Amino acid sequence: MVLKFPHFIHGGDYNPEQWLDRPDILARDIELMKEAHVNSVSVGIFAWSHLEPEEGVFQLDWLEEIIDRLYANGIYTVLATPSGARPLWMAHRYPEVLRMSRNLTRNRPGVRHNHCYTSPLYREKVRLIDTALAERFGHHPGVLVWHLSNELGGQCFCPLCQEAFRGWLKDRYGSLDALNKAWWTDFWSHRYSDWSEIEAPVPSGETSCHGLNLDWNRFVTHQTVDFARWERDTVKAAAPDLPVTTNHGESYESINYFKYKDVVDIVSWDSYPLWGRDPDEREIGQNTAFAHDVIRSIKRQPFMLMESAPSATNWQEVSRLRQPGIHMLASMQAVAHGACSVQYFQWRKSRGASEKFHGAVVDHYGGSDTRVFQEVKAVGERLEKLDALLDGCPRPKAAILYDWENGWAMNDAAGPRNLGMHYLETVMAHHKAFWKLGVSTDVIDMECGLDGYRLVVAPMAYLLRAGIADKLRRFCEDGGIVLGTYWTGIVDETDLCFLGGTPGDGLGQLFGLRSEEIDGLYDGQYNLLRPLDGFLPREEYRLTELCELCKCSTAQPLALYGRDFYEGMPALTRNAFGKGTAYYLAARGEQALLDDLTALLCREAGIEPDLDADLPDGVSAIRREGSVTAVFLQNYLPEEVTVSLRRPYRDFESGEEVGSQLTLKPFEVRILEER
Ligand code: GAL
Ligand code: ZN
Repeated sequence: MVLKFPHFIHGGDYNPEQWLDRPDILARDIELMKEAHVNSVSVGIFAWSHLEPEEGVFQLDWLEEIIDRLYANGIYTVLATPSGARPLWMAHRYPEVLRMSRNLTRNRPGVRHNHCYTSPLYREKVRLIDTALAERFGHHPGVLVWHLSNELGGQCFCPLCQEAFRGWLKDRYGSLDALNKAWWTDFWSHRYSDWSEIEAPVPSGETSCHGLNLDWNRFVTHQTVDFARWERDTVKAAAPDLPVTTNHGESYESINYFKYKDVVDIVSWDSYPLWGRDPDEREIGQNTAFAHDVIRSIKRQPFMLMESAPSATNWQEVSRLRQPGIHMLASMQAVAHGACSVQYFQWRKSRGASEKFHGAVVDHYGGSDTRVFQEVKAVGERLEKLDALLDGCPRPKAAILYDWENGWAMNDAAGPRNLGMHYLETVMAHHKAFWKLGVSTDVIDMECGLDGYRLVVAPMAYLLRAGIADKLRRFCEDGGIVLGTYWTGIVDETDLCFLGGTPGDGLGQLFGLRSEEIDGLYDGQYNLLRPLDGFLPREEYRLTELCELCKCSTAQPLALYGRDFYEGMPALTRNAFGKGTAYYLAARGEQALLDDLTALLCREAGIEPDLDADLPDGVSAIRREGSVTAVFLQNYLPEEVTVSLRRPYRDFESGEEVGSQLTLKPFEVRILEER
């Protein structure tokens, strides 16, 4: 446990600076926090103009008063650095701190999350304010963790960033010649003859060089993470013992979150599922489960749920209220997946500006006798009773490979299906198969180790980097089970196609086949997968979007295509490799295929579901393993369901035995312990 407060954290973003002229409200906040069983709030996010109202004039007394008062009332502070938004004086005096957009114009002062991560001036201003905060509060007994900035993300195309990009490329390639080779710049006569000719990819300039696009994306992550590292080093210089986090959004596009692994002490994220969009919550529940699993897998450790909405947001297309019970369901889901906190945006609704209608624990009415407040309070009360589970975390035996850089490269390539390759959707479909089975999974990237797993599913591993081909081969040799799919091993880490057959980099041997062609299908077109010898329960499964035509060397076909000119060619194969087995699925399959195949692979790998039960569709089970191990059983349906348990369990909270038929109310969460 990295935090000094050995309990589940319950609280949220708190902006007292908006209410400094209302001491009555600030006093009332403390009372309401205690009533809601809030034990921590995040303070200082976006408070820079109050902390440094004039250049070089730091005013921290008001913050000290707040932190002291919170602590005196048993409430800890998650202390933010204010770098997510700048005071206007700074943006007006030093325009270089502002971001330049893709059309190469400079943003105007205002809004947030729009600063240049390279600007030495911005970094220096951040260093000064962070140092002031760290010296003043870094050893405060009530301060729990640093919250660096807020949702770092986006891109800046200013000259400083472009120059930094060229410097980064020099480090990476050493010589212009090496860069020209890696980027295949002889194509369309795009050879660089001087470093200064390299520009970021923008719509009005170079966009056709995939190596450039990929490296620019890598650089953007590098620079963003470097900015976080700069802030971390700054606060750690004054207060080395206070742990550090930075809150991620739910985005699989701009920043590769795995690169934060060694920068933060604890990973945190902000979760805003579209609860209420569908007739039931299984789809949204599964999407959110995936996101939690990605976040936990970054460090393979417990994480913080830094923000979530206690009620509707105000930025989704429609601001649906949470059905009664959903708030508890969402909060417990995070805990099930390894969260050590349930925190909200926001504690109190602001009175003006763009988030004045965003859900909050306390709304403009100001009292605690509201539905939302009472549901929040119920979560706080429940968390207080879960202390014994705090040191636990899911410890999956299965992992799914999802790699940001692979996604960038695949989506950029004009290839077999410009209508959409659906990499993320495909990865999520594999994850869904595990979720439905009640088998926990990590979601790892190519830089992660494979130790501790028995089954690794690696869908569409188009770009191979970080030695992943070797890792998969060794994993399989040692007895692991691998499932690979179509569009794997096509390009190397610089986005150059492998010569001599795909999957490249030795993956052809692992899977025992060579993929010769790939057919892109229009929406609505399909093929069929026909299992041989009853290998899978159904007689046929639908295949869509992408179908690969493979020639087996050592692999043995387990299913064949049922249509088109490649009818009878292998669609699913198995290859014995060392002590393990490598499966290859040659086409995009419907969910039922992934479900059936995953169940079969888990059995072969000896991976048992987290709960010994028949899980109805829409009910999930996730085990948190620690000094006490418990399974979170969650109903995502608006109706009662009965789960048949095959082993005796007891309710962790009541201590009572549960029978073999356990009925869950709509959206109910039960926490079970093995007897
Ligand atoms: C988050 C952000 C918060 C708040 C919230 C609203 O992305 O970090 O500051 O804007 O969204 O849902
Ligand atoms: Zn910039």
